[in-house]
Amino acid sequence: MRAAGKRIAFAPTMGALHPGHVSLIKIGLAKADVAASSIFVNPTQFAANEDLATYPRAEDSDLAKLEAAGCSFCYCPSPTEIYPPGDSTRVKVKDLSHILEGEVRPHFFEGVASVVSRLFLHVAPDVAVFGEKDYQQLLVIRRMVQDMGFPIEIVGGPTLREDDGLAMSSRNAYLSAEQRAQAAGLSHVMRETAGKLEAGESIRTVTQAAADALLVTGFASVDYVEARRADTLAPFGQDTAPVGASGRLLVAARMGTTRLIDNMGFVRR
Ligand code: PAF
Repeated sequence: MRAAGKRIAFAPTMGALHPGHVSLIKIGLAKADVAASSIFVNPTQFAANEDLATYPRAEDSDLAKLEAAGCSFCYCPSPTEIYPPGDSTRVKVKDLSHILEGEVRPHFFEGVASVVSRLFLHVAPDVAVFGEKDYQQLLVIRRMVQDMGFPIEIVGGPTLREDDGLAMSSRNAYLSAEQRAQAAGLSHVMRETAGKLEAGESIRTVTQAAADALLVTGFASVDYVEARRADTLAPFGQDTAPVGASGRLLVAARMGTTRLIDNMGFVRR
């Protein structure tokens, strides 16, 4: 395809594909001539106590979904193709990797940056598409691409939601029927909170109220509810977002033992 001068889009995944992943392929196809994907459950982005061993795997149905979406290639490397014997190189994106998700999962973004940089070298796409569901990951990858000079355009794909508002995620499969019903409360609380932030209410008050509401909804614990600048994820430095500012509301909370993350954009009126 490259020799034929085709523009190649790439949407890397860890498999267990849902319509959100399929939408990334479609976005890629709108930006390029052919779409490629990858399925690789990346061990370096999981801590020892996390769900690497149980992460949902469904390669046959994933490949069928990719083909049906118009994806022409899927790279399914073995762990040693990505991390050769003796491997000792890691990619660290400073600052952005150590806030929010990075505070709770200190290993995570180093694992993501290390695998994505290798996938980029192996696949050599012209454009790569990442879901906004993992908003901080999208910013970390943009930063890495800019800093390392990868000649790749990074595109964000909007989060796809179930009918009740729950953001689509492979990890939703871990939820029991009761937890799944309660989990819908996350997007409702977030939508309400984003509305208050747009209206200029106190960031401290509304994020604390959101955390309390999540606990009432049935979440076992809340790692964070934060309203940050959309472009850098830096705090606003004052208790209301300045008029016209673009912000991002980011939440991580546990429903039972399942950790759910979500985020929404807002613009201060
Ligand atoms: O978002 C994901 O599925 C993963 O973090 C990624 C980008 C495929 C890297 O393993």
